[in-house]
Amino acid sequence: MAEQKSRRDFLNLLLGGGTLATLGAILYPTIKYITPPASGEANVTQLKLAFKRSDIEADPKKAKTFKFGRDLGIILITDTGELRALAARCTHLDCTVQNRPDLGILWCACHNGRYDYSGRNISGPPPRPLEQFAVNVVGEDIFVSREKA
Ligand code: FES
Repeated sequence: MAEQKSRRDFLNLLLGGGTLATLGAILYPTIKYITPPASGEANVTQLKLAFKRSDIEADPKKAKTFKFGRDLGIILITDTGELRALAARCTHLDCTVQNRPDLGILWCACHNGRYDYSGRNISGPPPRPLEQFAVNVVGEDIFVSREKA
């Protein structure tokens, strides 16, 4: 009788261990999948752009986009020759805005949103202005930062 109890205990232990292992095999990858990974990105406050003013001037749209940490920015040359950098994601539904030098505005093609070169939303559905970046030119290098100029 004692031998039967011992065999039953062993089988219960084996079954319990198998159940735990199965649950672990299901739960661990599930939890890893739904948990967002830790961001490896540093908090960017200033960035040296990979292109020069002459590259922007050579662009047919007189503008270039750049990554600023997780954000997307656009740098452009206004009709007065000034370099301006703004957030490139439309404040309506995050489409990327583009420079329309023919109209003198930043334009969002998704829903015809329009911004002036100060980032002010002037028509269409965008609810807020675009964030401005400060632009500093040192020699040929262009730096953009979050601080207002
Ligand atoms: S996403 Fe830009 S106007 Fe709608």
